[in-house]
Amino acid sequence: MLANSGYGTRSEVRKLITRGLVRVNGNVVKNIAYSVFENDKTEIGSTEVTAKTYLYYKLDKPDGYLTAMEDKRLPTVADLIPDNLKTKKLSPVGRLDYHTTGLLILTNDGELSHRLTSPKYEVQKTYLIKYEGEPLTDEHVKIFAEGFSLEDTGKKIDLKPSVLNVFEDNKCELTITEGKTHQVRRMLAKFNRSVVALRRVRIGNIVVPEDKEGILEEFTEDELQELMTALSIKR
Ligand code: URA
Repeated sequence: MLANSGYGTRSEVRKLITRGLVRVNGNVVKNIAYSVFENDKTEIGSTEVTAKTYLYYKLDKPDGYLTAMEDKRLPTVADLIPDNLKTKKLSPVGRLDYHTTGLLILTNDGELSHRLTSPKYEVQKTYLIKYEGEPLTDEHVKIFAEGFSLEDTGKKIDLKPSVLNVFEDNKCELTITEGKTHQVRRMLAKFNRSVVALRRVRIGNIVVPEDKEGILEEFTEDELQELMTALSIKR
């Protein structure tokens, strides 16, 4: 609880406990496995500890993981949640395809999750794409900026304007503000390009952690505050 609530790393809070600095309901607790309950009063020295209810993590999802909490056959992102967070009811925000890598946010804050995925809040999601087919052109950049429709399911879906940057070697970067099923793949398929590698690098102000593939990393206080402000969530 202390580590999850921001009072230090697991090894730092362990030291606080074994040194006798932590009290629960007035009694010093030196057992690092001691469990606190909701109404317990926990103190470090003379400071009362407030347990964090909401948790916010970012993950660089590796290829070959389902964005689901359970599957009979395939690895899921739930397999990447460490044991000490297994009881925290973290869920992925939105979905990345099995082969898509990159930024996935995991939280137990339903309101944040809702606002991040609702098209109403227009949160930017940026993807790096490697595709097959003729190189995309300035004409595509213009069409993407104006917004176009998908008709691949028999139903016309109007897409919001998006920002396409075209790079060399059949690579590009696309920023969208909504999240229809397989949206990026379908947007390129409309122009006869097929996505061969897809990586999400940013959601709003949150960027994918570097060199941390498969490891959950908690938001910094600044990242969390900036995101909450952008989404008008007051806690
Ligand atoms: N768009 C897709 O097509 N796939 C993803 O995983 C994410 C966005």
